Amino acid sequence: MSDAKPFYIRDPWVFDPEKKQTTPGDPSRGFATRCLHAGFDPRQSMEHFRSFVPPIVPSMTYPYTRPDEVPCPVYGRTRTPTNTVLEERLAAMEGGEACLTAGSGSQALFQLIFTLARPGDNVVTSLNIFGEGYKQAASIFPERCRVQFRFVADPGNPAEWASLIDSKTRLVWVETPSNPCLFVTDIEAVVEVAHSRGVPLLVDNTTATSALQQPMKLGADIVLLSLTKFMAGNATVIGGALIGPEGLIEDIRWNTTEFVGSIMPPFEAWLTLQYLETLSLRMRAHCENAQQVADFLHSHSKVKRVNYPGLESHTQIKLAQKQMAGGGGLLSFVIQGGKPGAIRLMDRFELIVQAVTFGTSRSICMHPATITHEHLTREEREQAGIDDGLIRFSVGLEEPEDIIKDLEQALAGV
Ligand SMILES: Cc1ncc(COP(=O)(O)O)c(C=O)c1O
Repeated sequence: MSDAKPFYIRDPWVFDPEKKQTTPGDPSRGFATRCLHAGFDPRQSMEHFRSFVPPIVPSMTYPYTRPDEVPCPVYGRTRTPTNTVLEERLAAMEGGEACLTAGSGSQALFQLIFTLARPGDNVVTSLNIFGEGYKQAASIFPERCRVQFRFVADPGNPAEWASLIDSKTRLVWVETPSNPCLFVTDIEAVVEVAHSRGVPLLVDNTTATSALQQPMKLGADIVLLSLTKFMAGNATVIGGALIGPEGLIEDIRWNTTEFVGSIMPPFEAWLTLQYLETLSLRMRAHCENAQQVADFLHSHSKVKRVNYPGLESHTQIKLAQKQMAGGGGLLSFVIQGGKPGAIRLMDRFELIVQAVTFGTSRSICMHPATITHEHLTREEREQAGIDDGLIRFSVGLEEPEDIIKDLEQALAGV
């Protein structure tokens, strides 16, 4: 029997902070152009499809003629032509070497950590992360894989990140702006700390999207995106993506995705490609609407606090302006009266819907303390800024006057 590994088993990726692991994207083309063109040139598909739009290829297997020269894709679990267009497009949008799609953002995160960390290793992050991410960090990985998670108390303090990294740290994971409190972490400062200790930095770019923030330009090694949110934008897709060095992405694809499910299904990948064509326009409108809503809430007497990175009162407004091209479409606010006050308010909305997602074209609200962050202890919620009266509010693309009118009438009644 030959000692050679089968072609589909890849060597584990080893992080080398000295090696430049990202590419800046195609510098000759702007962001909106990359959203429309990267990964697919209709003129090159003439022979088979003559299609202006990237085709959906739902085939789960890909025939070959010689068993000793099997081309890729070969099997839809790990690659399809439609997913390859989406992966190339997302890599170009984020300025990374390579991309892997996943069934969801949460699955993408799981696969990354499962690939990088072994029993006894650890990951450094903060409590300012999405709810399912917290569950992976606080119980699934520690209890089932013996991978520990260390949480910095103040993600704004680089010294704290440094103090938690040791020789067993395999990843530093930052979510910025964070869900649901929109805490902004200084990406360049944490890059410096992580790289000085030889550890790669993951930035979850879900709330800002590639349109408003490109963490790799600031030195991050890996980007996580939930495509489910603003990236696809209208609550018809569940999907995730990891962008990073090719060696890491292919390690995950062939050594983890291969065994724990599959990449995003081709139809969802195709839908995402259609929605990305309007990402720049949508994010501009989300930012404009959210700014008006944030200004309105900020001046309302029944609102105790508004978290929005575009508000002058946001404690990290300068940092947000430095690393983001707009405040985004997500905000949160604390209403008087704690949980009963929040529930009463949401119950009175006539236009705004309660649902567990954000980044949709229609406005959505949710109560994090009971729905997404209920697994945190009360002390942890306090540390993360998740007050009982906190409402997460994803500002949609309706006329901003209509959103504000709905908020106004609901607030008047509580
Ligand atoms: C910041 C952030 N990252 C990742 C995810 C996970 O994405 P998905 O819902 O696609 O699993 C979420 C989900 O809420 C999120 O808020």
